[in-house]
Amino acid sequence: MSSNVRIGIAGLGTVGIGVLKIIKAHGDLLQARSGAHLSVTAVSSRDRTKDRGVSLDGIKWYEDARDLATDPDVDIVLELIGGSDGIARELCEASLKSGKPVVTANKALLAEYGNELARIAEERGTPLAYEAAVAGGIPIIKALREGLAGNAISRVYGILNGTCNYILTEMEETGGEFAAILRDAQKLGYAEADPSFDIDGVDAAHKLAILASVAFGTPVDFSNVYIEGIRDVSAADITSARELGYRIRLLGVARRTARGIEQRVHPCMVRRDSTIANVNGVFNAVVVDGDFVNETTYVGRGAGEGPTASAVVADIIDIALGRHTPTFGVPVAKMNPIPTSPIADHRGCYYVRLTVEDKPGVIADVSAVFRDENISIESLLQRGRASGEAVSVILVTHEAKEEALVRALGKIAQFTHSMAKPRMIRIASL
Ligand code: NDP
Ligand code: HSE
Repeated sequence: MSSNVRIGIAGLGTVGIGVLKIIKAHGDLLQARSGAHLSVTAVSSRDRTKDRGVSLDGIKWYEDARDLATDPDVDIVLELIGGSDGIARELCEASLKSGKPVVTANKALLAEYGNELARIAEERGTPLAYEAAVAGGIPIIKALREGLAGNAISRVYGILNGTCNYILTEMEETGGEFAAILRDAQKLGYAEADPSFDIDGVDAAHKLAILASVAFGTPVDFSNVYIEGIRDVSAADITSARELGYRIRLLGVARRTARGIEQRVHPCMVRRDSTIANVNGVFNAVVVDGDFVNETTYVGRGAGEGPTASAVVADIIDIALGRHTPTFGVPVAKMNPIPTSPIADHRGCYYVRLTVEDKPGVIADVSAVFRDENISIESLLQRGRASGEAVSVILVTHEAKEEALVRALGKIAQFTHSMAKPRMIRIASL
């Protein structure tokens, strides 16, 4: 690229403004590292009158972000609007087709349409960069795609949603209400425009699908990610986890198994002394197992203005220097579509919390169901004593097959002495 790189930014929200601030603060540093003078020449956002706390003097304003794709004064387009369809997708496609490199933080778009966008980028020989889309400020895409390129990857997992990690950490530390903690995460700029994407696990699943593609050289396969969010994690589960020596974290796990690739996002009990259990607040962590390097772990802030903008700016520098690889590590035509291993086939240990009437014979009935499903119980504890009233029974199983456990819980839910839906959380074997 030339010694003067002109940038167009679509979306002046948390991330877009963060990028403007870095370019303003680090002009000389970025020039030294990229060999080019970086300047923002055009922007587009919805509301021109909004005070964004940074000067936009001398920068062209477009009412329609798609116009950035054809502006001759723009060399790189940053898509920082969000959303998997509509304007974000149109802008990325149009920019790549007109030969303009694209940098995006949009994991929803890449999870849904990444294969198609990668194909367009390849056909045009135009970079499509997205470091900020996974784990915010952690350079995990570069680490996985380039730094670990000499390894066959067997597993990649981690804490991929800062909002959920913030909520789970605060619930444990302060005993605060879920809704109030979520509002704080929104104020801090961590949450998605639709926060249900965060708390229902969808955002983490978008990121996991991207990571799995880079790790295993497979097409992005978001539709086959098993997803469970944190809405049902209760204070009672958090207390039980502590008593059993665990913490609850929302994990994304992608693993190569003999039956195919497992991709799952769900709350997990993780041992309190593990690295992952000690990743708190908005921090994310990603662990990658490579056959020669063994385990590597990456920790950092997974959301927010500075960390996310930091990843976007790193992509800009790569493009200015002419450094780029196939979007997901291997050319689209060389991707290997490995089948998905369904969650029903998953094997692991489980935490189960039952709410049952306190009366003779209930534990015997519960044990019989587990025996019939060939699930071995490691520990069983009844909480409290309230004859004829609801009590909690906490069970931990030995390794079992998920479909057997689900069947067992279905049977227990039908008991006349079952007073609430049985609750299950998988225990991580990390
Ligand atoms: P914000 O909601 O803060 O910002 C979105 C921006 O897009 C706003 O400035 C908005 O305009 C603008 N916008 C909306 N619709 C249009 C449109 N039709 N045309 C032009 N501009 C439009 O989002 P974030 O900055 O938080 O997120 C941006 C992207 O980065 C998303 O893909 C998100 O998933 C991703 N991301 C965010 C992270 C974070 O921590 N926030 C971390 C990692 C990725 P206006 O301000 O005028 O209303
Ligand atoms: N909403 C996301 C999170 C932003 O909380 O992690 C970072 O992708």
